[in-house]
Amino acid sequence: RMPILEQCYNLMDFEAVARNVMKKTAWAYYSSGADDEITMRENHSAFHKIWFRPRVLVDVEKIDFTTTMLGTKVDIPFYVTATALGKLGNPEGEVVLTRAAKKHNVIQMIPTLASCSFDEIMDAAEGDQVQWMQLYVNKDREITKKIVQHAEKRCCKGLFITVDAPQLGRREKDMRSKFTDTGSNVQAGSSTDNSQGAARAISSFIDPGLSWKDIPWFQSITKMPIILKGVQRVEDVIRAIESGVQGVVLSNHGGRQLDFARSGIEVLAEVMPVLRERGWENRIEIFVDGGVRRATDIIKALCLGAKGVGIGRPFLYAMSAYGQPGVDRAMQLLKDEMEMNMRLIGCSSVEQLNPTLVDTRGLSMH
Ligand code: FNR
Repeated sequence: RMPILEQCYNLMDFEAVARNVMKKTAWAYYSSGADDEITMRENHSAFHKIWFRPRVLVDVEKIDFTTTMLGTKVDIPFYVTATALGKLGNPEGEVVLTRAAKKHNVIQMIPTLASCSFDEIMDAAEGDQVQWMQLYVNKDREITKKIVQHAEKRCCKGLFITVDAPQLGRREKDMRSKFTDTGSNVQAGSSTDNSQGAARAISSFIDPGLSWKDIPWFQSITKMPIILKGVQRVEDVIRAIESGVQGVVLSNHGGRQLDFARSGIEVLAEVMPVLRERGWENRIEIFVDGGVRRATDIIKALCLGAKGVGIGRPFLYAMSAYGQPGVDRAMQLLKDEMEMNMRLIGCSSVEQLNPTLVDTRGLSMH
């Protein structure tokens, strides 16, 4: 009775299937958000407050939506963002995402808390396939230094330091479903308390003392571009630029951390005008994640000034329900949607996307 893969017509369809076929604990870990899950729901619905102002009578016969992120050319402006514990959903874990990312020429961000080892994921990559590293910073900086330098040695092209998780959020669905799986070989080690759900069980090593003062240290131990993942206000974007990092991800961790954090797309609409006023819009690459489910969401983010968007749960659900063919299809659906919607708003390339193509009056900043 499970729908065949060809019956999934959009990214939401994978979620509906996954919900029915996944193990309860895995579903609880992937799908949960913090507290009342207000932010998690807002992430997708915030995109619904933005409308298009399409252009007509432009030649849209050929559509090219390739772009670059941190210097890497990609087929479409999204990347697979870091999500921990891939083996909860699929016995092969994150390498499934690696293979799909290769096929579609997009970048995968490898989580610190992957189920597969870092090297297994790097080994699954082929040829010049580009990957990024997501970093949870350990209280023991020597461990962190080793992780970072190993990632650089293995040719990771970006270090995404997660800055929105000094303590893991309270995801009650996850806590209720007692976490007993051993789907991970993560660095957290043995002293884990499973009564708090999967997330908390694996995250006790994260340093809540991490601060802006640490940024120069990261810059001293690696030449990889540094991107702060989880920035939520314009003041911090400015501080990031002043600190000399190469990027920020406007993100609330998929609604899994601070409930009532604003959506990344909403924050983007606040950030870009301020940067443009200062002439700083090219000093940093801005990414957005959270609730991206449609190519129109991607297009809206790019119109507002993002370089690319991260997508998390949909690929986990596709991988859990259908394995790699599921992730392939999810990515292909986004490419198909992208081609059509670029055409319908009257843009044949990513460079043409600009703020005049969106009506943001529905966002709460107005
Ligand atoms: C995450 N996310 C995340 N982020 C991070 O920096 N380190 C991590 O280990 C994880 N783990 C993780 C697990 C799961 C199951 C989810 C759903 C998310 C957050 C992730 O990178 C991203 O910010 C959100 O997933 C984006 O929102 P969507 O696309 O899932 O709505």
